[in-house]
Amino acid sequence: MLLQGPIWAGLLLSSALASKVAPDTENDATKLVPVEDVLVEIPGVDPPVEVHQVFLTVQDLATRKESPRHTQEKNVLLGRLDRGHGTWGPNHPRHRLLDSLYGFQNYFDRNMEDLNRLKKLYKNVSRQQKKLVESTIQYSSKFSKVEHLLAENHRLCQRIVDTALDFYGVERSELDDHIKTAEKNGKVAEKVSVSQALKHVVRDWSAEGLGERKDAFPCLLETLDGLFPDREGAKGLAKILLPGAGLGRLGHELSGLGGFEITSNEWSMYMNVMYRFLEEHTATAAESVYPFVDYWSHHVSNADMLRKVSFPDTPVNGSAVLLVEGDFTTVFQDKAGYFDAIVTHFFIDTARNIISYFDTIHKLLPPGGYWINFGPLLYGTAPFVQLSLEEIIAVAEAMGFELLDTPDKWGGLTTEGGKVRGWEAVYGFNERALTKNAYQSQFWIARKRA
Ligand SMILES: C[S@@+](CC[C@H](N)C(=O)[O-])C[C@H]1O[C@@H](n2cnc3c(N)ncnc32)[C@H](O)[C@@H]1O
Repeated sequence: MLLQGPIWAGLLLSSALASKVAPDTENDATKLVPVEDVLVEIPGVDPPVEVHQVFLTVQDLATRKESPRHTQEKNVLLGRLDRGHGTWGPNHPRHRLLDSLYGFQNYFDRNMEDLNRLKKLYKNVSRQQKKLVESTIQYSSKFSKVEHLLAENHRLCQRIVDTALDFYGVERSELDDHIKTAEKNGKVAEKVSVSQALKHVVRDWSAEGLGERKDAFPCLLETLDGLFPDREGAKGLAKILLPGAGLGRLGHELSGLGGFEITSNEWSMYMNVMYRFLEEHTATAAESVYPFVDYWSHHVSNADMLRKVSFPDTPVNGSAVLLVEGDFTTVFQDKAGYFDAIVTHFFIDTARNIISYFDTIHKLLPPGGYWINFGPLLYGTAPFVQLSLEEIIAVAEAMGFELLDTPDKWGGLTTEGGKVRGWEAVYGFNERALTKNAYQSQFWIARKRA
């Protein structure tokens, strides 16, 4: 009895701790609760009670991402990443992975180049003017604050690299060699794509991004929910594909509706490496980034520019969505007719050849399958064809798609007598900025004819 007391007390302590932390699982990390807070009277145990310090790891086990589908896709991915697969060169998936890691790895140095340029430019301000600026707003101190926060972001970037090396099974020495070769060849580490990936965290996985997500998600989620009312019936889960998914939040929101098998797809290795980090670091608000510290324009205040954004705003359940990495038009070769719906969200205008996107969508859907689009028509630098909305609809119909009617609560019709609707959707990452980046985005549902 004497021996059992402490053990029993320890157990009680555990359950007391558990009940104390359970309602607050948002901060999904290991929590240490002061013993005095929970060690109240323990009936039947005479003092002194041996106190065991108990560390509880409160973690939602549903956040584990292993599933047969995930395991199989990872094997395929690792096969594609093998150096011996295909032709080695800048377009090889492993080369693109290493290039992206080179970018994350050199985050600080690349951004310090910019900061040092700004410091140098400030030297052009006259002594008199500098005196005024320094005495009123201590302008120079902004340089050191920015440098400090770039270093914070750099630490995050190093953890992103570590997670990626682990996930993709790449040795550090291989990355080091890749970087050495790149530097020898005068290739600088990519800066913009790294910055974009970090900013995309705001759009997809922070509370601040809710406004942007609200422009599109309710319509897309409600549409899918309505199109597949019996999705858990005899046919099994409705299969949804989201190409050009960025950091994948839409797919995760969709998983919340239940009854869908969700596949996302993304080509950019900067996005994919960031997503792998999110998959591994699932605890709510446990991570943070200073996404706006690398851009000095459009800020109301320094506080805005230097603000920290915590992420993720909700636990990331990696098992809910399968990410298939690579080019949408090539990685689903064996999936003809497989998906019940394909959702192109801010995607179709990224195509080099938009007709190939349409061909792929058509091929991957079965007769009766749905193509749901929401996004702008912002063509890049060298697309093979650049179609107007009317041209897109004409081509889609000629390919065998039929445009469906949609509720007018989703915005006005873009063309008289047409079936496409449009409304403004922000794609700007920074809700506090003195600039706005938004598009009159176009929404349609098209069904593949039998
Ligand atoms: C404008 S972003 C939109 C991302 C996300 N849908 C969103 O709205 O936040 C377009 C995404 O498509 C990806 N992408 C471009 N071409 C692609 C391709 N051929 N296959 C797969 N993804 C592609 C880009 O890397 C980028 O992440």
